[in-house]
Amino acid sequence: MKKVTAFFGLLLATSPAQATNLDFALGKALFDRPWTSAPASTQATDGLGPLFNARSCVACHPKAGRGKITVESNGEIGGVGYVLRLGSATGEGDPTYGRQLQTNAIHGQKAEGRVYLENGYYRIEDLAYGEMAEKTKYAGRLSQPLHGLGLLEEIPTEDILALADPDDKNGDGISGRAHMVNGQLGRFAWKATAPTLRIQAGNAFSNDIGMSSPIHRHHHGDCTKNQPDCLKGPHGDSVQFENLEIDTQMLDLVAYYLKRLPAPKSKATEPLPLFSQVGCADCHTPQLKTKSGQKVAAYSDLLLHDMGEGLADGIKENNATGREWRTQPLWGSANTKRFLHDGRAQTIEEAINWHGGEAAKAKANFTALSDTDKQRLINFINSL
Ligand code: HEC
Ligand code: HEC
Repeated sequence: MKKVTAFFGLLLATSPAQATNLDFALGKALFDRPWTSAPASTQATDGLGPLFNARSCVACHPKAGRGKITVESNGEIGGVGYVLRLGSATGEGDPTYGRQLQTNAIHGQKAEGRVYLENGYYRIEDLAYGEMAEKTKYAGRLSQPLHGLGLLEEIPTEDILALADPDDKNGDGISGRAHMVNGQLGRFAWKATAPTLRIQAGNAFSNDIGMSSPIHRHHHGDCTKNQPDCLKGPHGDSVQFENLEIDTQMLDLVAYYLKRLPAPKSKATEPLPLFSQVGCADCHTPQLKTKSGQKVAAYSDLLLHDMGEGLADGIKENNATGREWRTQPLWGSANTKRFLHDGRAQTIEEAINWHGGEAAKAKANFTALSDTDKQRLINFINSL
């Protein structure tokens, strides 16, 4: 393939292949772009905040990968791609702080607070807008790696629905429920709340960066009516961009970039029967196919499972309960330093030990294996 000169004037004259390469590069540039607060010298880069967690997508997904957690000596927890989700058992966010604690704000506005980790419990300090509601619960979410998600988007909905067994009719102890969000199958994020990469990108622009887009047209991101200064803060909606901060074309380019990020390279030469025998494959489906027949070895069924009390955080998101999580794909695991939705596990074995609920039997089977077999299974996961 030829290299494309990034010259807008040439776009019309390029072949379709060249145009898609250019779209990928433009999408990547938007993914990497650090946004600034309005009004900036160029409207094309402003609109950040007023409240935000990070200035760019790449800040939380370094090299389009998973985030990292750091804990300071005073217990303050931060890092890259780590956010505190707010919510409740009935699905609402906090009346004041919304659905996520924004730990940053543009000049002249107040960040919402700081998060500390102490003996395995979160503590929020410096809450800038008064108390949180009594019933608000909070829990960490670590950013996920983004490679190969375009293939997951291309798996026919029927094929995923066929794996679901919400009432456990086959009696194997594993139900698996499709997360329908506004009539579409949810596929992305830890609770499969986003049906498409475009919607997930729009959610991220709003909650993480504080920017409006065709998905969330509100330019104040996660500010609530109890944060009037934030609602009155500066914004970057402009006529040039459909009265938005991120217009249709920009959002489409970011989604296109995500769609084209290649899947992690697998080193596995053949399937390991032990993986299925133990019961891991009942959720971590070894292979699915895209509409065009391409094999996808993500090791996920993209369904929600009740993973038991140990992983539950009581936060309902859309129709997923506080105990339900989407089966996390296992491809690319060799690069993972922190496992599970809040990054609590530092090894594959630790991650398995947190499995409960529908996965209790598989975990017990794993625990009963000899050390050699445990290692074989772990090596296999590291090869995916
Ligand atoms: C402040 C950190 C942060 C920023 C900034 C951020 N993300 Fe994320 N991203 C996360 C976290 C945390 C999750 C998991 C969210 C969840 O499950 O609720 C996530 C999940 C995702 C997913 C779903 C991955 C999967 O496996 O299903 C995609 C896609 C994604 N982000 C894309 C983006 C894009 C595009 C941007 C920029 C517009 C962005 N993110 C900005 C933290 C961030
Ligand atoms: C009932 C379904 C189910 C079964 C059975 C199951 N898992 Fe999981 N697995 C999940 C879900 C859901 C998650 C995400 C949980 C979370 O993040 O809180 C997960 C997460 C993981 C993770 C962490 C992935 C990451 O990138 O953070 C690993 C590793 C893992 N499983 C391995 C296994 C192995 C090995 C087995 C067999 C012993 C197994 N799982 C059996 C549903 C299952």
